[in-house]
Amino acid sequence: MSSRIIPVPAFDYVVFGATGDLTKRKLIPALYHRFKDGQFDETSRIIGASRSKLSEADFQKTAREAIAQFVEKEYQDQAVIDRFVNIITYVPVDASKPEDSGDLGAALRTDPKIVRAFYLAVAPDLFEPIAEYLHKKKLYRRDARVVIEKPLGHDLNSSKAINDGVSKIFQEDQVYRIDHYLGKETVQNLLALRFANTLFEPVWNSAHIDHVQLTVAESVGAGTRGYYDESGALRDMIQNHMLQLLCLVAMEPPASDDANALRDEKLKVLRALRRITNGDVAKTTVRGQYRGVKSETVSVAGYQDELPEEKKGSRTETFVALKAEIENWRWSGVPFYLRTGKRMAERVSEICIQFKPIPHSIFDHAEGAPKPNKLIIRLQPNEGVKLMMMNKDPGPGGMRLRDVALNLTFAEAFNERTPEAYERLLMDVVRGSQTLFMRRDELEAAWAWVDPIREAWDRSTEPPQSYTAGTWGPSGAVALIERDGRSWYEGSLS
Ligand code: BG6
Repeated sequence: MSSRIIPVPAFDYVVFGATGDLTKRKLIPALYHRFKDGQFDETSRIIGASRSKLSEADFQKTAREAIAQFVEKEYQDQAVIDRFVNIITYVPVDASKPEDSGDLGAALRTDPKIVRAFYLAVAPDLFEPIAEYLHKKKLYRRDARVVIEKPLGHDLNSSKAINDGVSKIFQEDQVYRIDHYLGKETVQNLLALRFANTLFEPVWNSAHIDHVQLTVAESVGAGTRGYYDESGALRDMIQNHMLQLLCLVAMEPPASDDANALRDEKLKVLRALRRITNGDVAKTTVRGQYRGVKSETVSVAGYQDELPEEKKGSRTETFVALKAEIENWRWSGVPFYLRTGKRMAERVSEICIQFKPIPHSIFDHAEGAPKPNKLIIRLQPNEGVKLMMMNKDPGPGGMRLRDVALNLTFAEAFNERTPEAYERLLMDVVRGSQTLFMRRDELEAAWAWVDPIREAWDRSTEPPQSYTAGTWGPSGAVALIERDGRSWYEGSLS
């Protein structure tokens, strides 16, 4: 297989927050890859903007360093890097002090055919001032695009305030809200799996599926990011990435891949989620916080050890497990178990669809009882799809049953580099495709579901359950699923 590169129209991409971490780690490397693959050329421009008084040469140097540090060595091609940094320029901009800012207008071209995009890689309290600055400076165009990314609020009200601020200038069809999980190839493959095959759709419902598990486990810790302690796993991962995954698994087939057709279906799922209210929180949610390990061979700091003095004693959760239920015909009675955490046993994101047991077994005398089929979709790492099926163990000695995987691994099947999420998303902005971006009502529906859980936790006197770094989370998470006679799936990494 070889991918086809479809060039995008020429653009001026202004990146606010140009000296920040996201720009260095993700945006510059992603743009470099797209340039290297020929998706755009020297007719486009990348314009870094931030409060720092850098020169164009300074910023080009930063871009070179970002590529050296964050692009895999085998893709670093000096001749391409030289051409790429040539399309990069820099303008110092302080939206609150226009008089102190450089001339961003001079860096932008006026040809209406050149796509104009503003990526706001800055704190959300700067979204509105920057939008107003662009308007005042007459840099806003009705067809310009603005890209924003989480944290888009810490609850429903703050999220509304952020959206209201941006929408004073930009209309909804100009706003691209990134959830980088939607840019992952394997997440998009969920759409292909469900809607480009006839096999699964007839059994994709409560008549055939027993339950669904979604796991996004990270082996890294929360680190020293100040933001994390304010956020916690519920806001950092469940409200956005994991609910988006749940939507893609659970939504009805949209009529087309049109952005609104797809987002309408996701929204219906979010609105059909049963509210987890105060009384249910203790039964259906578990939060945890990792503690360190120290032995002769390992030494890993606990969450508390990583916090600065003034934050010690924080009750921020680094792990969440919960049971979600979707109240509609397709999913009634099919629980969706979600869990995510830092410092877990492995880095693995996967979806496990567990089918119902066979209705009647003819293998009473066989060794090994038939196990229900499972469809396991591995989002990362070792991307792939695995179908666990019962088979006869070959050879004499009677009927022995064994579950064996029908295994599709992307590395073997496609044999090429998997682009990073940001590559796809940055180019979709230029193409004007909002399909993989969150619409305002989706974002708000997700907050509306998450808020009561957060509020109940805040009211509770119970601290998060402690779990040892390097494990699958607190015992409460095991109990949560075992109460329903089920268990977490932990076995698809090989
Ligand atoms: C981010 C979270 O959105 O996603 C991080 O803020 C988390 O805490 C990251 O580590 C996980 O993304 P990925 O692509 O590494 O799975």
